[in-house]
Amino acid sequence: MRSLIDIVNLSTQEIDELIAVAQDIMANPSKYAEKCRGKKLATLFFEPSTRTRLSFEAAMYELGGNVLGFSEASSSSSAKGESVSDTIRVVSGYADIIAMRHPKEGAPLAATFVSNVPIINAGDGGHNHPTQTLTDLLTIKKEKGTLDNLTIGCCGDLKFGRTVHSLVKALQRYQGIKFVFISPEELRIPDYLRYELQKAGADFVEVQKLDEAIPQLDILYMTRVQRERFFNEADYIRLKDTYILDSEKLQNAKSDLSILHPLPRVNEISTEIDNDPRACYFRQALYGKYIRMALILKLLEVE
Ligand code: CP
Repeated sequence: MRSLIDIVNLSTQEIDELIAVAQDIMANPSKYAEKCRGKKLATLFFEPSTRTRLSFEAAMYELGGNVLGFSEASSSSSAKGESVSDTIRVVSGYADIIAMRHPKEGAPLAATFVSNVPIINAGDGGHNHPTQTLTDLLTIKKEKGTLDNLTIGCCGDLKFGRTVHSLVKALQRYQGIKFVFISPEELRIPDYLRYELQKAGADFVEVQKLDEAIPQLDILYMTRVQRERFFNEADYIRLKDTYILDSEKLQNAKSDLSILHPLPRVNEISTEIDNDPRACYFRQALYGKYIRMALILKLLEVE
């Protein structure tokens, strides 16, 4: 039985296969409409979500399966003090697969120790978000036709932004990837990630100015400053509007730049560029459903 807790749980070949299956689902949805008939997905969300939870649920419905779960900790017995471990032991008797989001780093990994069914990490604190990474990789593949030889700018909150951490771990395994990390000093990538990149001999730079970095980028991955992870509201207010991508900033960008954002956005991308063909973030949110369909099929070992 396989779970997905960290993107490194998947080999590059497995990631490429998931992307290929997702693309086939997009082209031939009817072929997959009954694949999970009789199967149940539990979505256990101890933290808010729109895209991840609803795309998982839509994915399971489009595979012919059913869904149960909760969307906030306050409507589960965790509000009465039940442990994650006990919740998982119980729910793994009700469902065939579990997607869970939790504010505590490591909670989905802990869940795998007591679960009888596959666990999918749908985001654990500031740590990892592997299904967002699969979504991002599918988006890049769709937009660029390749995951190799790209210069990728990651901009915003690179300290707490778990989607960046997972994406970087995945992309560094492809050929000819250069990362440009654009953040204020306080929100640079975590030390462990910098160390991993250095150890792997990855090509990366860390800068503070988006204007200076933008002309060289093939992909610009914008992120929200993660208010919920700050200890101090004053720091959040000082940093939240450091980068706002607008039409003026895009003037110096490549004509085939792809702008991604895991969403939700707050202020970091002006709505004036939503109709620019380079803005991919709403397509990206849609692709999340297809890659999660492919992942459910893989973890349930459905042919
Ligand atoms: N990208 C993402 O994780 O969005 P949600 O928080 O809405 O699930």
